[in-house]
Formats: sequence, C-alpha cells, structure tokens
Amino acid sequence: MLDQNALKKLAGEYAIKYIEDGMIVGVGTGSTVKYFIDKLATKKNYIKGAVSSSEQSSQLLKQYGILLFDLNTVDCIDVYVDGADEINHQLQMIKGGGAALTREKIVAAVSRRFVCIIDESKYVMKLGKFPLPIEVIPMARSYVAREIVKIGGVPNWRQGVVTDNGNWILDVYNLDIIHPVEMEQKINNITGVVTNGLFAMRPANELVVAKSDGSIIVEKNGGIYG
Ligand code: 5RP
Repeated sequence: MLDQNALKKLAGEYAIKYIEDGMIVGVGTGSTVKYFIDKLATKKNYIKGAVSSSEQSSQLLKQYGILLFDLNTVDCIDVYVDGADEINHQLQMIKGGGAALTREKIVAAVSRRFVCIIDESKYVMKLGKFPLPIEVIPMARSYVAREIVKIGGVPNWRQGVVTDNGNWILDVYNLDIIHPVEMEQKINNITGVVTNGLFAMRPANELVVAKSDGSIIVEKNGGIYG
C-alpha cells in the first residue's frame, strides 16, 4: 500500500502523457501538481510554455526555466492539469484548498482539455464533505458569511490567508450539495463573492486516479468539452 504522497507523485507524473510538443500548458496548484511540474521540466524545450494558476506554481515553473505566458496574450490553452480536493463521478470538483480557486477557474475556462490528477482519497459519491472555499472581497466577508448561513452553510474565515488576488477565503461546512451547478451559481451570485470552489459548470474532461495499490485509473467525461 502506497501512502498519499506517493500516490500524488504517481498521478502527477502520469499526467505528462497529455503533453505534446508545441503545447501551451495550463498548470494548476498544489502538492500533486508539484510532481507534474517536476516532470514538465523535462519537456521544457518542446512545449511553447505554460500559463500558471498561482504565484506558488509560477515560482516553481520559473525555477525550472519554463516560459510563462500572461493569460491575456493567449487565446486557448491546450491542456490544463490540476488537482482537486474532491471530485465526483461527473468529474465536478471542489477546489481551493490551496486558495488558488479563482485563477484556477479562469485557467480552466480558457482550456480545451482539463485533466484532473488525484490520489483515490479525493474521489467521492457526493461533493461537500470537504469544506467549500469561497474567495471574497475582504470588506464583504461578514455579509457573505451571513448569506451563506441562510442557505444552510457554516462559514469559517481562513484567517491569515490572503489570496494572490488580495482577497480572503471563507471555508463553508455543512452544505448539502445535491445540485452542484445550481449551488455554484447561487453562491457566485452573492455580492462580494469573487468565486467559489465548485467546478461544476466546467468539470474536468479526464480524471487520473492513483490507487493505493499503485495502479492508475483514467476516467473520461464526454461532456461539452470532451
Ligand atoms: C488549490 C487546489 C488544489 O488543486 C487542491 O487543493 C488539491 O491540492 P493537493 O494536490 O495539494 O492535494 O485546488 O487551490
């Protein structure tokens, strides 16, 4: 039985299969993605470059000498590789454990193909055990928290964390996420919310799961992006 870190490494390294010469690669954030970046570095002379979803990933990409593109200069990203905190069988996710959800969602929106890489503990039947991160404009924190309570959530301010965009994070417990798309839209409609960590409107296209016996399973989502 492999431990979680070894499984993250397996999934992260496996994702290099999706990278072809000349691609612009979207790069997510987190400890699983770190292993993907380590592998991507071996292809740095063959890809066009990368668009990063966080300062943390940018730093590592720069250390490896991988060319970084500003998203405003790129029409389309060929493939986006990122982890998740939870993912269901429709490949809808909760993300944002690393507070990078907004940039991750933007990069995902611009990408033709989203490959999610996880260890098997992240695969769930129903989203919501992992607290849902919401990025909020700082002055709206209390207002957003009160609105979240009205829909049954229990918000907790992730004190001391400031996102790359200068905002704050509320982690919301106890949400009954029966319809992820509706929940994503409802929370995004609260004034002061920048975005929330539900990736239901734009799910992943492919899921790479590293299982504790060391095997890899790949699941595909035809969907509108497939
Ligand atoms: C960061 C994220 C990450 O993808 C998510 O938290 C998973 O991270 P890790 O690979 O470290 O478990 O959404 O905002």
